[in-house]
Amino acid sequence: MSKTIYILNGPNLNLLGKRQPEIYGHDTLADVEANCAKVGQENGLSVTLMQSNHEGEIVEMIHAARDNAAGIIINPAAYSHTSVAILDALNTFEGPVLEVHISNIHKREEFRHHSFVSARAEGVIAGCGVNGYALAMRHMGTLLS
Ligand code: DQA
Repeated sequence: MSKTIYILNGPNLNLLGKRQPEIYGHDTLADVEANCAKVGQENGLSVTLMQSNHEGEIVEMIHAARDNAAGIIINPAAYSHTSVAILDALNTFEGPVLEVHISNIHKREEFRHHSFVSARAEGVIAGCGVNGYALAMRHMGTLLS
């Protein structure tokens, strides 16, 4: 039976593909999901992709992952830089956590340079565009094999 990976996405990522394409590209979250499912198949992993604009909902998705997922890939978006609640929730999860940012947050405004979530993540991928999600899926395959 394949292991399930939760791919969680924070605020404004529902607009991926339409939102500031010069920074985030033209692919949509549906494209990300299809690509990650393909990589998952090659690694015996299935994916459940979710997005929310609400911090508490993301906390609840992480709680659900405790019973339903072997690993979490998370792009907390703007909550990366503000949310101790998401960090605390991730600290209740026992499997591997990989953090993804589509843009290179270290090349952008200073307020984006710090992520609370990085203190919990096994690895962080930033600046590889939406391909970062597929890279994280591949690495998740290694971590869980
Ligand atoms: C982001 C970077 C964040 O600073 C920003 O708030 C986002 C997206 C990224 O994927 O590059 O919404 O996490």
